[in-house]
Amino acid sequence: MKRHLALAVSAAFVLATSAWAADATVTLAAASGSKAAGTINFTKADGGLHVTGDVTGLTPGEHGFHLHEKGDCSAPDATSAGDHWNPGKQAHGAPTAAAHHAGDLGNITADASGKAHVDTTVKGIGLDGETSVIGHAVIVHGKADDLKTQPSGAAGPRVACGVVASAGAVSH
Ligand code: CU
Ligand code: ZN
Repeated sequence: MKRHLALAVSAAFVLATSAWAADATVTLAAASGSKAAGTINFTKADGGLHVTGDVTGLTPGEHGFHLHEKGDCSAPDATSAGDHWNPGKQAHGAPTAAAHHAGDLGNITADASGKAHVDTTVKGIGLDGETSVIGHAVIVHGKADDLKTQPSGAAGPRVACGVVASAGAVSH
């Protein structure tokens, strides 16, 4: 009887914690000689994904923030991740613009200590099929994305890179 109760309690705990866990996650590592690092989580939201997390080791100010096509951060400058992820063959732009790459997540803003807190909801991306973010690379750039220069917003070097993985098996 006692054992059944313990199982029921632990099952309820698992259900409660899974409701808070991310659906996909990415660990960012430094590139191009930077000291950037961080974690970004993706959770399902109405019509898109809620993107949250923190990045440290940046220069103060805005930094371009994108999903790039290839889940490959092996090059020291992260150019191995390819261009912006663009399954819809659109022009580069702000995530809220009518036309933009699926991977255009806009900018993140680092404070004077170099830390950027990310909390935004991006429409049109998901966890399944052609719009799935899983397997693509999240890149943080050294400069701001101007949200208009083609094909990538003139955001400068790639200072952090990580590959998005399903968080199904990851516990937090
Ligand atoms: Cu980029
Ligand atoms: Zn783009």
